[in-house]
Amino acid sequence: MTGPALPESCDFVVFGGTGDLALRKLLPALYQCALEGRLPTDTRVLGVSRAHLDDESYRALIHAALREHVGDLDDTAARALLSRLHHVALDAHDPADWHRLAGFLKDRRSYESTVRVYYLAVAPSLFGPICQQLDQAGLTDEPARVVLEKPIGHDLASAQAVNAVVGEVFEESQIFRIDHYLGKESVQNLLVTRFANTLLEPLWNSHWIDHVQITVAEKLGVGERVGYYDQAGAMRDMVQNHLMQLLCLVAMEPPIAVGTGTEDVRDEKLKVLHALKPLTPAEIDRDTVRGRYGAGLVDGERVPSYDDEIRSAKMGASLTETFVALKAEVQNWRWAGVPFYLRTGKRMDRLSSEIVIVFKPPPHDAFRGRAGVTSPNRLHIQVQPDAGMRMHLVAKEPGPGGYRMRPVSLDLNFAAAFDQRSPDAYERLLMDVIKGNPTLFMRRDEVEAAWAWCEPILRRWEESGLPPKRYAAGSSGPTTAITLIERDGRSWQEDEL
Ligand code: BG6
Repeated sequence: MTGPALPESCDFVVFGGTGDLALRKLLPALYQCALEGRLPTDTRVLGVSRAHLDDESYRALIHAALREHVGDLDDTAARALLSRLHHVALDAHDPADWHRLAGFLKDRRSYESTVRVYYLAVAPSLFGPICQQLDQAGLTDEPARVVLEKPIGHDLASAQAVNAVVGEVFEESQIFRIDHYLGKESVQNLLVTRFANTLLEPLWNSHWIDHVQITVAEKLGVGERVGYYDQAGAMRDMVQNHLMQLLCLVAMEPPIAVGTGTEDVRDEKLKVLHALKPLTPAEIDRDTVRGRYGAGLVDGERVPSYDDEIRSAKMGASLTETFVALKAEVQNWRWAGVPFYLRTGKRMDRLSSEIVIVFKPPPHDAFRGRAGVTSPNRLHIQVQPDAGMRMHLVAKEPGPGGYRMRPVSLDLNFAAAFDQRSPDAYERLLMDVIKGNPTLFMRRDEVEAAWAWCEPILRRWEESGLPPKRYAAGSSGPTTAITLIERDGRSWQEDEL
């Protein structure tokens, strides 16, 4: 995808500069971009946090993080990045600190044309106050950009409130709401697979597709993020954003253009969100499943239950779900009558994010009564751990004895096909922010439309007061999630990994 050009100078400011996201993802991504010469030559990276660190101690902290999170670190390149790194200690309520930050940013040649990126890797409750302070400090004019990490809000009203405050300070074109799934190579490849090939598009509709499955399964539990997670749960943490974005990319109409800085892709995704059939309370009871992991074995290791994790964190009891399965419907010409089954969970038996397109069986069975096994064609689009695609077809088993059928697969492993390093999602997205390309970010109306669809489900669950179904850690989720799809005469498609 091509896009706007690289600016000559950039100040990349990370609020939450000592936090987990900065250490694990953002700085390693900036390091890779620097290593490959992709950052503007005149770039400064500024970590902002409450910590009283001078530049030297911040550099030491980031150096250690790079050693931990970057495989095969090139120490010369790391030191080159560290020399551009600074730290500003800031108490968000202290005007003097904002004054100092402004002084730092304005103290450079070509301040007016320097792209300033404010990456808010902080709690969403701080999005509004930080933007207002940046505004008061006179730091928000173009070419300034602000990046908001999810979750944007807790429900529709709070998302609208965050968007409104940030929108009073920044134009929509300056706001980049990140969903890192959109930066994954395999997710971008979905656009290419659909819209740069002719083979699939004629089949990509209710005439030929029986249903779609989208699964994001993780082996990890909530671990140290339990404080945040217990307020969110799988619906807010994964479905409202990552899974719904994947659904949009599968279901959207062909955009006029991809990646030239236009709004085409986002316009088409929004139409999908608007076409999602709102679920009635009775449908929510029937077509959604919430689960919560108990203790169990993951990769042979005994892991605690979610309940134990919140108890250890000295938090009160909750009904938070760590697993969601649901059936959705896109009500438009292309997809009428095609169910989309979505599923995500923590502490599952596998790490696998996959989209499965299950085609209809042939309209006529010309091989009636022949031996063997047939099954409808399926396209597995593997998002992770390895990006790839697998098409399941039916073939004749070789040898005499008439037609014996067997499913076979056509495999495409992108790593093997390209023999190139696959960049982390953040590398692509951070460069897009620097260049000002919004295609792979969520627009305000998208975020709000996704909340509008999810909210009745969350409300119904809350009102019911029912606990989520238990599933053992290391399993494939609650059995009711299996019933959800089997009731329709279908089953979850899981290839052997
Ligand atoms: C994050 C969620 O957005 O995505 C996490 O907050 C989740 O709970 C993570 O583990 C999954 O991302 P990935 O890239 O590891 O699939």
